[in-house]
Amino acid sequence: MKILAIETSCDETAMALVDCKGNPLLKNRSAGWRIKVLENIVSSQIAIHRPFGGVVPNLAKREHIKNLPKIYQSLVASHKSLKFDLIAVTVGPGLEPALWAGIEFAKSLAKETGKPLVGGNHMEGHLFSNWLPHSVIASAAKQSNKNLSKIATTPSWSRNDKIKFPAIALVVSGGHTMVIKMDSLKKWKNLGETRDDAAGEAFDKVARLLGLQYPGGPEVERLAKNGNPKAVNFPRPMLNPPAGGKNYEFSFSGLKTSVLYYLRDHPFVVSRQSLVADVAASFQQAVIDTLVGKTMRAAEEFGAQSVLLSGGVAANKRLREIMKLETEKLGREFFVPDFQYNTDNAVMIAAAAYIAKLRGKKYPMRANSNLSL
Ligand code: KG4
Ligand code: ZN
Repeated sequence: MKILAIETSCDETAMALVDCKGNPLLKNRSAGWRIKVLENIVSSQIAIHRPFGGVVPNLAKREHIKNLPKIYQSLVASHKSLKFDLIAVTVGPGLEPALWAGIEFAKSLAKETGKPLVGGNHMEGHLFSNWLPHSVIASAAKQSNKNLSKIATTPSWSRNDKIKFPAIALVVSGGHTMVIKMDSLKKWKNLGETRDDAAGEAFDKVARLLGLQYPGGPEVERLAKNGNPKAVNFPRPMLNPPAGGKNYEFSFSGLKTSVLYYLRDHPFVVSRQSLVADVAASFQQAVIDTLVGKTMRAAEEFGAQSVLLSGGVAANKRLREIMKLETEKLGREFFVPDFQYNTDNAVMIAAAAYIAKLRGKKYPMRANSNLSL
């Protein structure tokens, strides 16, 4: 089934053409679904929102409305006869005006083409990005540099039988921080999420305190590479619940405030690049310790066979490395999507919409900024 997917929940206008086959929800068919990415287009609005220090919803909407027809036309131009069976569009969670831009475009496309339209859940998208195909470039590059561009551009079917259940998934984005227990592709439970700021939001806010640009995550990571993660002992919020407690909630607002107080009490820091790097590295480490600590505790408690990491913050290399190391110490298998599928994209929406359709889950065709998992 070919799916044309549209994602406009925040500041990326994304469209993808994805082929999906098989039904993993049938008994004894866990190996039975595959995904092939035919097109993955992401138009970032970062440069437009950067002067404002964050995403401006109505500006995002305006840009999506401008970008969507252009992206669709480029797809039509590069596929002699563009054919798809289903249109999927993100209906939430996200910024309401931005979501509406995608929904309205998808509705008119459905009318024009006569194809069915389904709603996609952005968080299911991040969750199911763990099943997206992995690029073969890295392993191929190790063997030979020949034909690299050909390898990179040839779409291939994913093999989706590697992730074993139960699985524990950490989804960390700009708006969410969630630990999810998955028993199957149709049964999962949100064990806990953030009480206040999401991990990505904390990265963005701390970046601003350090005088860095939006989005803050990649900037903090870049600076942290030259800093000492042990320089400042920032709190690890809610890492250790009271004895016997099984708390999988997060709270990053206090950590951000600790950074604020530290900078207020040490005003010379911001003018010394090496000290700023130390603060960035120490903050990043506090976030990572908290995320990894809770995820590992969940993996142990629920006997997870697989540990999954996804969402925009999963682009953080140190988080990926430490999570992998700790998962393997526990003897479980670690999975993380390719970098291109961590931050917002429409391929993950196609995958989520495909599974939702097989599950018989239907989302109303209207923007829902608080849609839950
Ligand atoms: O998933 P995403 O693209 O959008 C949402 O659904 O929110 O996540 C964006 C978030 C931003 O807060 C951004 O700062 C953070 O992901 N992020 C990172 C990194 N790259 C993006 N955080 C830490 N390290 C990174 N390398
Ligand atoms: Zn996202």
